[in-house]
Amino acid sequence: MTASARSVRRPAASFKVRRRGLSPKRQAEFDTWIETWGLSIDGPPLDWPAVFGRDGRVVLDVGFGHGESTIAMAAAEPDLDVIGVEVHTPGAVTVLDAIEHQGLHQIRVVHGDVLLLLDRVPAGSLAGIRVYFPDPWTKRRNHHRRLIRQDVLAALVDRLSTGGFLHLATDIADYAESMEAVCTAEPRLTGGVIDRPDWRPLTRFEQRGLDAGRRPTDLLYTRT
Ligand SMILES: C[S@@+](CC[C@H](N)C(=O)[O-])C[C@H]1O[C@@H](n2cnc3c(N)ncnc32)[C@H](O)[C@@H]1O
Repeated sequence: MTASARSVRRPAASFKVRRRGLSPKRQAEFDTWIETWGLSIDGPPLDWPAVFGRDGRVVLDVGFGHGESTIAMAAAEPDLDVIGVEVHTPGAVTVLDAIEHQGLHQIRVVHGDVLLLLDRVPAGSLAGIRVYFPDPWTKRRNHHRRLIRQDVLAALVDRLSTGGFLHLATDIADYAESMEAVCTAEPRLTGGVIDRPDWRPLTRFEQRGLDAGRRPTDLLYTRT
């Protein structure tokens, strides 16, 4: 564990447990590809130049879902190295497939809980963190499961380099308000709500919200 980069310990998962498995063929592909392109949540602190084979800028993409934005952004930004984290296997194998077949060799997939992975991410080592549409947990009794809260935010910001960015998006109004409140209370961040950037790819999750009449809020911060 790197000094000055906090751990997050929490009793409740921020994700919903889903039971849908993969077909045997897809499972075999997953097992092969994760060996090449995966990073484990367990182990010593990660050394990005050793992981990516170059000394570039590294972005953490938290909860990529089906991977649409991770894949599209990696294709548009080949100079950026990406650690995509997702607990659900169907999304993870979709991104692994894109790495294999679209040549997106600058992505690594972590199949697991980002809060556990953080213990492997050295302080100040990330050029950016993206958290797009984290699970909304709309019922008040489940708000404690929301990913973006003060202790998680502090642990994420610990890993950002000076000048690094934190980009959040949600289409749940009270979650956007609480995201803004915790980010405003974090003295190392400067920034706030921005217009939806057209370079952030539209995902099926965001589209479902738009179809239901919800509008996204984007929040963009820089670590000072
Ligand atoms: C609502 S989806 C949004 C997916 C995608 N970012 C998008 O914009 O379409 C949120 C995703 O975050 C994942 N997730 C939630 N908590 C997580 C955690 N602690 N670690 C990794 N993934 C997590 C969930 O499994 C889910 O797929």
